Amino acid sequence: MRIETLSVFPEVFAPYMDASMMGRAQKKDLLDFESYDLRDWTHDRHRTVDDAPFGGGQGMLMKPEPIFEAVRDIASRQEGRPHVIFFSPCGKRFDEDVARRLSHEDRILFVCGHYEGMDERCYKLADETLSIGDYVLTGGELAAMVVTDAVVRLIPGVLGDEASAEDESFAGNLLEYEQYTRPAIFEGMAVPDVLLSGDHGAVDAWRRANQIERTARWRPDLLAAANLTAEERARLEDGGEWYE
Ligand code: ADE
Repeated sequence: MRIETLSVFPEVFAPYMDASMMGRAQKKDLLDFESYDLRDWTHDRHRTVDDAPFGGGQGMLMKPEPIFEAVRDIASRQEGRPHVIFFSPCGKRFDEDVARRLSHEDRILFVCGHYEGMDERCYKLADETLSIGDYVLTGGELAAMVVTDAVVRLIPGVLGDEASAEDESFAGNLLEYEQYTRPAIFEGMAVPDVLLSGDHGAVDAWRRANQIERTARWRPDLLAAANLTAEERARLEDGGEWYE
């Protein structure tokens, strides 16, 4: 997969993108990442990318000309039109389902805004606009890194263990089960006995129950769309005990 970013702070990506899993994905040639400086598509001495809003109001807006020119130029540099994603708190909420869908793209271009936002006409370039949550960031760079991380880890071969992308939070709309490692007792806190039993069937049953119980406690909003059996739903509605 090729991921490109367009922003006025192209230098912020490298420390994250060159480290850990994102760095590994690039070294394994599973990810080809490049960040572009929007100011390279300006034509004035000050490399201006923003301007005051018509109608008055606070702050500056990103002007359309450099963004249109940059997106078209970047798109034409390689075979295969990129899937163009803009960021805004007004966008569609990013979640694991969107990450899975994007992990099948060959080429993505993230366009990161700054200042008080963008001239509305810029969004005509977007295949979609995403929000990473109901809060306001000063720019789209962090959002681009969040989405990149969540998408790239789903590319087969990026995570060491292929199963680990399947068997985790949000798969089936349930949170991940609790996990423990040694020591079996730490500061008086014991690991659940069943995990030490060596009984794989019992461990699987405990993990499933733990997922449902945790989701009901922390994220009940996920349960409506969760993949539960009729028996699990009935037990949930009874407020039932999850562990035998
Ligand atoms: N830009 C500013 N705030 C944002 C958010 N919450 N998500 C995505 N892009 C943003």
